[in-house]
Amino acid sequence: MNFKLSNNLPMIAVFAFLAGGAVLFGWRFITPSSGTAVDVKLPKLSTLALRGKVAFDENCVSCHGNNGAGSDQGPPLVHDIYNPGHHADPAFYLAAQRGVPRHHWQFGNMPPLPQVTRKDLTEIIRYIRELQRANGIFYRQHQM
Ligand code: HEC
Repeated sequence: MNFKLSNNLPMIAVFAFLAGGAVLFGWRFITPSSGTAVDVKLPKLSTLALRGKVAFDENCVSCHGNNGAGSDQGPPLVHDIYNPGHHADPAFYLAAQRGVPRHHWQFGNMPPLPQVTRKDLTEIIRYIRELQRANGIFYRQHQM
């Protein structure tokens, strides 16, 4: 084989381009634990969602941030990862019941929150779903 750098420059350029793209793409999934808070538009909430906000502010806000926008302790729930096609409502009940092992982010595990009742969670889910919809996050079939 006769390797001549000048002949291979186009290939090298293409490879560098693809590698750079892969790094940028992968980066989105290994999100650093600070600076993840998102801008959340606030809709007019239903009565159920307003009750959910109270329960959320008591039990979840310390990590998931005001209006589910995220904090330096936990991820935003108003985020496409948590659209109902990827994290359906049972994921919320389970999260509070059993906790969540770290898998999408680098905040560590979510501890179980046994003090949060099913009724609280139903209201919290309504709150989060209304926030998600107001911010353009809808059901999308999960494909990963
Ligand atoms: C002590 C911090 C903390 C508190 C309090 C907390 N969470 Fe979490 N939660 C996390 C972290 C961290 C993750 C992300 C884990 C990962 O995917 O890496 C998470 C993930 C989740 C998920 C995704 C579950 C999944 O299957 O991936 C849901 C839903 C959730 N939290 C709901 C809630 C709700 C509802 C409350 C309040 C009742 C709450 N969390 C309170 C830290 C917290």
